[in-house]
Amino acid sequence: MIKTQIFHRKDIPNAVKMLQEDQLVAFPTETVFGLGGNAFSNKACRAIYEAKGRPQDNPFIIHIASLDRLHEAAMNIPDIAYDLFNEFSPGPLTIILPKALSISPVATANLPTAAVRIPGHPAAQALLQACPFPLAAPSANRSGRPSPTNAGMVMQELQGIIAGILDGDASIHGVESTVISCMDEENIALLRAGAISLEILQDFLSDKGLSIQIQTSSKELASPGTRHPHYQPAYPLRLVHQIDLPWLIHHHGHEKLGILCLFPLQDHDLNPPEGWQIKIFRNIEDFARQLYHALVEFEEQGVQIAYAQFPSRSGLGLALCDRLQRAAAQKSNP
Ligand code: TXA
Ligand code: MG
Repeated sequence: MIKTQIFHRKDIPNAVKMLQEDQLVAFPTETVFGLGGNAFSNKACRAIYEAKGRPQDNPFIIHIASLDRLHEAAMNIPDIAYDLFNEFSPGPLTIILPKALSISPVATANLPTAAVRIPGHPAAQALLQACPFPLAAPSANRSGRPSPTNAGMVMQELQGIIAGILDGDASIHGVESTVISCMDEENIALLRAGAISLEILQDFLSDKGLSIQIQTSSKELASPGTRHPHYQPAYPLRLVHQIDLPWLIHHHGHEKLGILCLFPLQDHDLNPPEGWQIKIFRNIEDFARQLYHALVEFEEQGVQIAYAQFPSRSGLGLALCDRLQRAAAQKSNP
């Protein structure tokens, strides 16, 4: 066990010093919190896999402060990648590019490519600007668990395991970045749905006469990480198109149930059994922002089984459906 320090913005030089010594520091981003280590260092990158209990075939996203430092993470960069970064960064877009030689092969799980992102959260920006190297950073949870969207959730997952956490505002998106592969203009593919919607990317690309193929989980070339179990709480989660309160009361009246749904909840005037936890989100953005937090909070409240309403797959709904499906997947059958 090590003592996990909380860093505030004024302590960033100390956080950088720890990172220089190959220690790990979690930091906020606008999507979810990341677990950062020096992306040039094999030792730091090995420590990330270890801290998370992460399968070694699942590479990390490489975070940089700004486009003028892209050469630290990638090389042979096609013009379209610059266009996409110029339009959507800093922000929740990750682009797979040929990896720069200086990036640790441990960070990329020996792939010839690196996933590169420029986060916009002010605390992430301040840390990355102060770091003389890019930060390899997967989400700051133990492998397979819901991603943390505030510093307290990181503490719960990794206290005693990592050197520090940079404090900062909670993540505003609550789902991870959109991952696209973009080796050249003719081969642009969506590998993981995320906080920037497919429609927005399609609009941007179609103005240039280009298109994006969908290559998520079921397809061969998808992001390696999409093969592994993800985002799973301790209790079973079931997905339904509508929350049917009378049916749930009839079938689960004696259990501690959690419900995640969009406004309005039908039959909300029925009295749910004592101890049930019901979260009604105003819209899809709210649902995404609070999903992981709610999944973890239900654990603390002793929820035995949860039901979540499946939103429509348009806009941010595509990423939200993906995360819900993974969270609901059977642990024995990932
Ligand atoms: O919003 C986010 O993306 C957060 C914050 C911290 O930036 N990070 C995050 O990292 O979600 P992680 O490790 O939980 O997910 C990264 C995804 C994984 O599915 C991984 O397989 C994929 O990106 N990935 C990383 N490098 C890749 C590569 N070279 N080729 C294909 N997929 C890659
Ligand atoms: Mg993750």
